[in-house]
Amino acid sequence: MNLLIIGGTRFLGRALVDAALAAGHSVTLFNRGQSNPGLYPQIETLIGDRDGGLDVLAGRQWDAVIDTCGYVPRLVGDSARFLADVVGHYTFISTLSVYSDPSIVGMDENAPLGTLEDETVEEITGETYGPLKVLCEKAVDAAMGPQRALHVRAGLIVGPHDLSDRFSYWPYRVAQGGEVLAPGDVNGRTQFIDVRDLAEWTIRATQAGLSGPHNATGPAGELTMSEVLDTCKAISGSDATFTWVSNAFLQEQEVAAYTEMPLWVPPEGYEGFDAFDCTKSIAAGLTFRPLAETVQATLEWLTTRPADYEWRNGLKPEREGELLRLWKAQ
Ligand SMILES: NC(=O)c1ccc[n+]([C@@H]2O[C@H](COP(=O)([O-])OP(=O)(O)OC[C@H]3O[C@@H](n4cnc5c(N)ncnc54)[C@H](OP(=O)(O)O)[C@@H]3O)[C@@H](O)[C@H]2O)c1
Repeated sequence: MNLLIIGGTRFLGRALVDAALAAGHSVTLFNRGQSNPGLYPQIETLIGDRDGGLDVLAGRQWDAVIDTCGYVPRLVGDSARFLADVVGHYTFISTLSVYSDPSIVGMDENAPLGTLEDETVEEITGETYGPLKVLCEKAVDAAMGPQRALHVRAGLIVGPHDLSDRFSYWPYRVAQGGEVLAPGDVNGRTQFIDVRDLAEWTIRATQAGLSGPHNATGPAGELTMSEVLDTCKAISGSDATFTWVSNAFLQEQEVAAYTEMPLWVPPEGYEGFDAFDCTKSIAAGLTFRPLAETVQATLEWLTTRPADYEWRNGLKPEREGELLRLWKAQ
């Protein structure tokens, strides 16, 4: 397959490039040349801004395009219309944040979608991100026709090169050892997908011409937070012990869900946040590597970061110590 990737050089994009090359496809990148320039010297990169700079794509043809960096429907519509006659298929990287009600357990692709009062808004915030992705999906369908458009609604993407730290915190923190604050219910569910599983499936699904929305998170069965922490401990061989503090305590202490406390969301109103139904994608070939491989690869990648790296998310050590002290004093 002759593949165009809009983006391709930060996180999911680089896993897509790696997966496409490993599967023997030919890849062209289109990006501004700002993120990790020179990452793929062996690949043709067309330099341009998707906002007004699509001309660099003129006169070319590809079997398929994968769009990793579409957040604004105006721009996604522009690229889809520009490419509609010269690509066979458009894969749009979307998100599970398209769904409007995280309290619904077992949401499949027919669950209610987020909407915006003002559909011309272009600022990406916690509130607009999901509904804007809904409009981006519609813009791709309108330009390509729904039969030639695949929408990969990804859950939390984890593994090497994830700069959000929303998963990496756990392998790192558990590897440090000692008493670890563990959030909420021991048997609380969590969902996420290894970036390499998502990328490899997206390439296969694109090649197969899969169309329509597809939820994409893992694993296939249920995964609990305690399994995540136990796996981190087993892989790192640390002496970590886990002190589980209650949801109510975390809320009382105003611990920020998912960011300050990665992989944790308060139970009320978020019952479906980690319980999406991915049956459709699994039936279409989505597979999941063992969690141990994700943890191992994340730990290996973390050793390549600078020693003075400032974590974007996760409890700061002083805050964790203080919370543990308060929890025990109760
Ligand atoms: N992270 C998660 O947990 C998560 C969960 C669900 C869904 N998602 C979705 O997954 C995707 C992940 O993206 P990623 O950042 O990992 O992809 P990526 O392809 O690795 O990186 C983004 C790429 O877009 C390019 N880019 C940014 N702005 C551009 C512009 N105006 N014109 C042309 N190129 C531009 C960047 O290069 P330059 O800067 O050089 O232009 C870079 O190559 C997003 O669509 C996100 O909504 C993520």
